[in-house]
Amino acid sequence: MSFKALMLATAMSGALFAATGALASDLTIGFSQIGSESGWRAAETTVSKAEAKKRNINFKIADAQQKQENQIKAIRSFIAQGVDAIFLAPVVSTGWDTVLKEAQEAKIPVVLLDRDIDPAGKSLYLTAVTSDSVHEGKVAGEWLVKTVNGKPCNVVELQGTVGASVAANRKKGFEDGIAGASNVKIVRSQTGDFTRAKGKEVMESFIKAEGGGKNICAVYAHNDDMMVGAIQAMKEAGLKPGTEVLTVSIDAVPDIFKAMAAGEANATVELTPNMAGPAFDAIVAFKEKGTVPPKWIQTESKLYTQADSPKAVYESKKDLGY
Ligand code: AHR
Repeated sequence: MSFKALMLATAMSGALFAATGALASDLTIGFSQIGSESGWRAAETTVSKAEAKKRNINFKIADAQQKQENQIKAIRSFIAQGVDAIFLAPVVSTGWDTVLKEAQEAKIPVVLLDRDIDPAGKSLYLTAVTSDSVHEGKVAGEWLVKTVNGKPCNVVELQGTVGASVAANRKKGFEDGIAGASNVKIVRSQTGDFTRAKGKEVMESFIKAEGGGKNICAVYAHNDDMMVGAIQAMKEAGLKPGTEVLTVSIDAVPDIFKAMAAGEANATVELTPNMAGPAFDAIVAFKEKGTVPPKWIQTESKLYTQADSPKAVYESKKDLGY
């Protein structure tokens, strides 16, 4: 996009979602949350409430129980209530155009949290607070390549929810990360829907299909909860995760640090559960002063391994709402 076009788009998004001069304490914000499929998700909900309280914002959360149709209903209800802004963690990346156009017509700014929608919908939200989920997968892949150091390594992959931006991106990123290493191969890949139960179930089927797990060198999971389930499955099958089978996943929830401290997991890439804090700040500045935020507010991704005192990290995270 040219600079002129970018300026025009920025000015337009400012006009479409009008600023009101409102103070944070006057604001009512609705959040269409996906559900509580993972420890990370639970922490995001807890942290969002705390961040709203800090700023005196009236915050309404609707739990969609993993269903897009429930998220659409929640957004319509927030529009009918005349909220000042809507936060949306989109369970999947497609199918938002109609409802987001309705929010735009009602002049209610929408902020995406932790997941993206398809690029065609870019003009329908004000900003997105997310990590670079392709980068997360790449960091995981590169860690594995470095760790196996040229040895042949068959990887099984537990994917996140089908259709979710983060699942597609973490898959692509990992593939990019291992692209230069012909010794590292993904031999099986299936969704575990970001849950522990599904992660365990799918890992059991991988173990069966791969000669009782003898052919598996590493597990890559798109989140820690699926990895915790997979670790359980490996232990029940008599395998030794963390030593015989390497593990790398994403989120950095306390339970993965517990597993790392016990020598049963190897690495995780951190995803901050505080997506709402920067989103509130962006909305407050927008409403109070008309400041249009950047289209993407990127959060950090940090790799943790067993060398990073997992027990101490567990202690520091265990009471944070995960
Ligand atoms: O969108 C973020 C992902 O959603 C987290 O990594 C996963 O745990 C959650 O379910």
